[in-house]
Amino acid sequence: MTQKTTTQDPQNSSTTAPLGTSPKPKRLPRYTSYPTALEFSDLDAGLYGQWLRDLPEDAPVSLYFHIPFCEKLCWFCGCFTKITSNYDRVHRYLAILMQEIHLVGAETGRKKVSHIHFGGGSPTIIDADSFTELMDLVRQTFDILPDAEIAVEIDPRTCSEEKVAAYAESGVNRVSLGIQDFNPDVQEAINRVQPDALIAENIAWFRAAGISEINFDLIYGMPRQTLATIEETVQKTAEFRPSRIALFGYAHVPWMKKHQQMMDKHHLPAQNERQAMFDLASTKLQESGYHAIGLDHFALPGDSLLTARAEGHLKRNFQGYSADPATTMIGFGASAIGSLPGGYAQNSPDLKTYAETVEAGDIPVRRGLRVSALDVMVREVISTLMSTFAVDPYAIAAAHGVDYDFAREAQDLDRLVAVGYLARAGNEYALTEAGRPYLRAIATLFDHYFPQQHSDIITRCVHESEG
Ligand SMILES: C[S@@+](CC[C@H](N)C(=O)[O-])C[C@H]1O[C@@H](n2cnc3c(N)ncnc32)[C@H](O)[C@@H]1O
Ligand code: SF4
Repeated sequence: MTQKTTTQDPQNSSTTAPLGTSPKPKRLPRYTSYPTALEFSDLDAGLYGQWLRDLPEDAPVSLYFHIPFCEKLCWFCGCFTKITSNYDRVHRYLAILMQEIHLVGAETGRKKVSHIHFGGGSPTIIDADSFTELMDLVRQTFDILPDAEIAVEIDPRTCSEEKVAAYAESGVNRVSLGIQDFNPDVQEAINRVQPDALIAENIAWFRAAGISEINFDLIYGMPRQTLATIEETVQKTAEFRPSRIALFGYAHVPWMKKHQQMMDKHHLPAQNERQAMFDLASTKLQESGYHAIGLDHFALPGDSLLTARAEGHLKRNFQGYSADPATTMIGFGASAIGSLPGGYAQNSPDLKTYAETVEAGDIPVRRGLRVSALDVMVREVISTLMSTFAVDPYAIAAAHGVDYDFAREAQDLDRLVAVGYLARAGNEYALTEAGRPYLRAIATLFDHYFPQQHSDIITRCVHESEG
């Protein structure tokens, strides 16, 4: 595991490589952060402490807790996790995580919290009592707003009715179920067998406990997936009626995640098949009443992502798309990344170093990046484009008070208008239908860290994009 991976985004820029296309493709960022995690370098924990102390008094923050354990390894997995059946190990980790909460809380004071996310790994590995204890400490340390979203990533195989009751009592109001694919052959090929009845049981527990905001995570582009298996998965998904769906492209990075070699690469679909899978799933989901959001999300009417888009505050963050109003995210746990007004900060991904640092009474931040005013402005340009498929970069620069003329970008943007990938109205550029597959390539135009000289923008769109 290198420190370049954004643990909260298994498809991070550093991990995304199209399969078997020619000429040799570049990896296009997904822009769950800007600058991307590739730009992180050593960060002094003292500076991070200052960023925490400098947080504005009244502005709400969001909290991310990383639980880096799973009981069984899925061969496609790109997340930062360790496989364990030793619950003592999880317990020891939770004790350290709670110490970290104390350490950070001492710097921030009792901040208002608008959003909490438990990710991993599999937060469902935590037993019901420990989860309650953890949330109690979070409530003592921070002021969780009454309408805060509290979300947990669920591995349906390690969830239980007792855990669901603890989530509901602790205020959890959104869950994301790792579904990936319903087809038994695909499940076998990816070492993740979970029968439909198990999913139905999980959903019944959540709905009975009053947790009605249910997300499904699906993946396309994995071994043995075909258009037929994708259609089957999407049809079953639509029947279970989750309020939100993330449809991720499988990130095949065997040089970083050696276990992905367990899957026969000859069973991986080609790039054009991946695109066809995404297109089919997207069409079928929309026929079933879901609205497409950004790169890879779908939601039923009433979902907060749709509301946020309508109100103009949908944004990118490490979890993908978010309606969270907070501009600060504080990360807790090994490898967790936070985003503060001062910059990005990532905790040590090494469990031993993470634990020893916290036990010594120090905040375990290791890497990160101080952001400039230009970075923050460009971040909003890219986030807006990735979220709404349209952007007026000049208006965003003016709103940020940043003197930047977009002269380089404008030349390429106008070329994209000429080939029909963008439409221009005044200073606003909007993706056309023809330009949609190239969203990520087009976003790189604004990226000051992307090697612009490496390839021309049209080449980048046509040869370097992936679905
Ligand atoms: C941390 S996991 C979710 C919780 C739990 N561990 C589980 O798998 O059910 C987050 C999601 O990342 C996605 N994911 C993991 N590895 C991926 C990869 N290599 N490419 C694309 N998506 C991936 C899966 O959809 C997974 O549900
Ligand atoms: S359960 Fe989730 S985090 Fe764990 S190995 Fe499977 S995909 Fe990865």
